[in-house]
Amino acid sequence: MHNDIKEILITEEEIQAKCKELGEQLTKEYEGRFPLVIGVLKGALPFMSDVLRQVHTHLEMDFMDVSSYGGTSTVSSGEVKILKDLNTKVEGRDLLIIEDIIDSGNTLRYLVDLFKYRKAKSVKIVTLLDKPTGRTAEIQADLVGFEVPDAFVVGYGLDYDEKYRNLPYIGVLKPEIYGASE
Ligand code: PRP
Ligand code: MN
Ligand code: MG
Repeated sequence: MHNDIKEILITEEEIQAKCKELGEQLTKEYEGRFPLVIGVLKGALPFMSDVLRQVHTHLEMDFMDVSSYGGTSTVSSGEVKILKDLNTKVEGRDLLIIEDIIDSGNTLRYLVDLFKYRKAKSVKIVTLLDKPTGRTAEIQADLVGFEVPDAFVVGYGLDYDEKYRNLPYIGVLKPEIYGASE
C-alpha cells in the first residue's frame, strides 16, 4: 500500500470483478446497437480501459475532457469547463458516458444536458463509484460499481493534485496529505 494512503476501500481484485459484471450487463444492453462510448478524462481512463475489455459487442470510443475540481481543491467548484470536446457527432446516437465517480453530480448533469441538446438518441451513464452524500445536482447513474462514503478517495483514475491516478485500488488519503486537521 502507498505510504500516503490511510486505508484501502476497494481492492484491485474487487474492481476487476466488478468490471467483468458491468461488462456483461453492458454487452446485453448494447448488443447490435454500436453505441458511442464517451470517456470523461482524465479520471475515467483506467475504468474505461478495464470495463470495455469486458464488453463483447461493437462500440465506438471518444473522449471529453472536462474539469470541475481545480488543483488541490477537494470540493467541486460547481463550474464545469470543457477542456477537450468530442470528435464525433452525437445526433441520433446511443451514448454511454463512462465516469470514475459521481460526487456533486455537476459534471454529469452538464454533460447529459449538453448531449441531449445535441440530439443524442439515448444517454446512459456507468460510473465506478457513487458518493451520494456529495450530491447537489439532480443526476443518477444507470449502472454503479460501488457506493463510497463521504471521504476523499483517490486511486484508479481519481487524483489529488494530479497524483495517485495510477494506483490499482481505491483508497482514502491520509488527512495530513491534503492539510486537513483530524
Ligand atoms: C472528477 C471526477 C469526476 C468529477 C466528479 O473529475 O473524475 O469527473 O470530478 O465530481 P462531480 O460529480 O462533483 O462533478 P475532475 O474534474 O477532478 O477532473 P479529472 O477527472 O481530470 O481529475
Ligand atoms: Mn473526472
Ligand atoms: Mg480531478
